Order: sequence, then structure tokens, then C-alpha cells
Amino acid sequence: MKLAVYPGSFDPLTNGHIDIIERGTHLFDRIIVAILVNVEKSPLFSMQERVEIVKDVFKNRPTVEVDTFDGLLVDYVTRRKADVIVRGLRALSDFESEFQMALMNRRLGPNIETVFMMPAEQYTYISSRMIKEVFSLGGQVRGLVPDVVERRLKEKQLMKGNVNVS
Ligand SMILES: Nc1ncnc2c1ncn2[C@@H]1O[C@H](COP(=O)(O)OP(=O)(O)OP(=O)(O)O)[C@@H](O)[C@H]1O
Ligand SMILES: [Mg+2]
Repeated sequence: MKLAVYPGSFDPLTNGHIDIIERGTHLFDRIIVAILVNVEKSPLFSMQERVEIVKDVFKNRPTVEVDTFDGLLVDYVTRRKADVIVRGLRALSDFESEFQMALMNRRLGPNIETVFMMPAEQYTYISSRMIKEVFSLGGQVRGLVPDVVERRLKEKQLMKGNVNVS
């Protein structure tokens, strides 16, 4: 039984993340999408919203699980009795920090292997930060995020609109 953890902030989940998770399901028996608590001081989506989005997208995929974690990633991976950390590589720019993180995690947890996967080409330029930026400036994000994320982004925009009016 090979269990993998895919950690990240997923604020919000994008089609790039989904592509990596799908690929992971072909390699591992089970993949845990592990959402990191408190990475950013002010995330756009609350922890609960981020969990709901992943659950919604993978509701028909019993081998994809969603969880949240705090503290050291290797401690979480050990606690979950997982073998592998999955990370996505978009471009050369991801490489240096991912390389450092993988080596540090190997030092902290020598039995845990980090596996890197590349997304389909059309997703290589997508990041959560970019999605939030483009959407807030009025750009189309359809096709870059799942429908549920597009819907929730629009809801947030409406709510923000109401706040500004009052
Ligand atoms: N489009 C993508 N293709 C492949 N891997 C990705 C993609 N977007 C993110 N990842 C990977 O998913 C993991 C979790 O990333 P994270 O939650 O930081 O997403 P992000 O899009 O980089 O968000 P942010 O813009 O907030 O940093 C990382 O390994 C990251 O490299
Ligand atoms: Mg990132």
C-alpha cells in the first residue's frame, strides 16, 4: 500500500494541482491532499472552504483524501504512515526551492521520498497567486480552475462589492 502526501496551500485549488493529483492516483494507492494551516497570514479562502473545494472536486475519487496539517511536514507524513511526498514542478524557477525543501525533508525524515511530477503543458504557468491576481483584475479564469472555484471566486467578489458599498 503506497500512500502519498501532496502538501500545499491550495488557495485556491487550480487545474494544475488537479492534474498533479490525477497523476498521483495512477502512481499511488492513496493520495492525501494536505492543506497547510497558516502559510499565509491572510489567505483568500478559509481552511474550511479549501477543504470543501477539494472534497467537491474529488467526490467520486475514493483514493483522494483531503486533510489539513500544521507544523513540520515530515512529522505529518510520519504520523499518517505515508511513504512519499508529492510536489509539482512547473518551471525551472520552482526547482531551486523545491530541491532545497526536498533535501531538508530527506534529512529530517530519511525514509520519506519526495517525488516530483510535471503537469500537462497547458498548466505549467498556473499558480494560485496568478489566478487570484487575474480574477481580481477582471480577467477570465475559466479553464484554469475547477468550476466550483470560479463560482466561489465570483461569490467572494459579490460579497466584497456589498461591503464596499456600505
Ligand atoms: N500549475 C501547476 N502545475 C504543477 N504543479 C503545481 C502547479 N501549481 C502548483 N503546483 C505545485 O503544487 C504544490 C503546492 O503548491 P501551492 O499550494 O503553493 O500552489 P501555488 O499555485 O504555487 O500557490 P501560490 O501561488 O500561492 O504559491 C507545489 O509543489 C507546487 O509546485
Ligand atoms: Mg507556490
